[in-house]
Amino acid sequence: MEIIIQPTAGEAAGIAARIIARLLRKKPDAVLGLATGGTPLSLYQMLIGMKLDWSRVTTFNLDEYIGLPREHPQSYHGFMWENLFRHVNIRPENIHIPDGNAADMPAFCAAYEKSIRAAGGIDLQVLGIGSDGHIGFNEPSSSLASRTRIKTLTPQTRRDNARFFGSEDLVPFHVVTMGIGTIMEARTNLLLAFSENKAAAIAGMVEGPVTANNPASVLQLHPSVKVCVDEPAASQLERADYYRWVYANKPAWQVV
Ligand code: F6R
Repeated sequence: MEIIIQPTAGEAAGIAARIIARLLRKKPDAVLGLATGGTPLSLYQMLIGMKLDWSRVTTFNLDEYIGLPREHPQSYHGFMWENLFRHVNIRPENIHIPDGNAADMPAFCAAYEKSIRAAGGIDLQVLGIGSDGHIGFNEPSSSLASRTRIKTLTPQTRRDNARFFGSEDLVPFHVVTMGIGTIMEARTNLLLAFSENKAAAIAGMVEGPVTANNPASVLQLHPSVKVCVDEPAASQLERADYYRWVYANKPAWQVV
């Protein structure tokens, strides 16, 4: 796991944007896994500003609320179109977002997994992290081998996401999310976390035991993970100085 600590969220997102830009230039038909929420907003703005070619890129989003109409401003369909897709030259047929209104949810989830495989697998998965350690919407106690399926949000996540809905009462209880097993098959995982609200989850993920109680900790078992954090999100890392030293002293050929 490579822990990249930056003074500000903007600088951390800038490194993530350069990692993605480098991938899209090297592999124009890359398959990207994408996240929603507050964290990747600045990353998406930077990617838009870089005027990259998305014409051959395929995307798979991590998750979606169950039961929100697609046109609802807080649906992840709405979020992705508003904050990224409508600003780049991606082909609509290359965009995949879980359908929170599928009539047969298990069949939809199996088909979603199949379409990820048919696309050749995910080259790079963008992840945020919940304050309870969730990745995608794999809440604590999720099977570390789980696949795309329905999940129930924890009260903590519903409270965290109330800021988008105006009231906690309006936050859906159920979601459809890629599983942890699905995320672990991405060739690279790029996780972003900003603000002190994420500090405990980040410390558990990087330095705690691998446990379903902090689902992100399973990334310790993944061979290629980059974690871009600002100082507040890194504030509970015991070995923060070591991670800073490693990043500052990377061989030139590794620097993004
Ligand atoms: C969203 C997702 C979630 C968020 C997490 C953090 O697609 O998969 O895991 O990344 O809930 O959300 P923010 O960024 O709003 O703090």
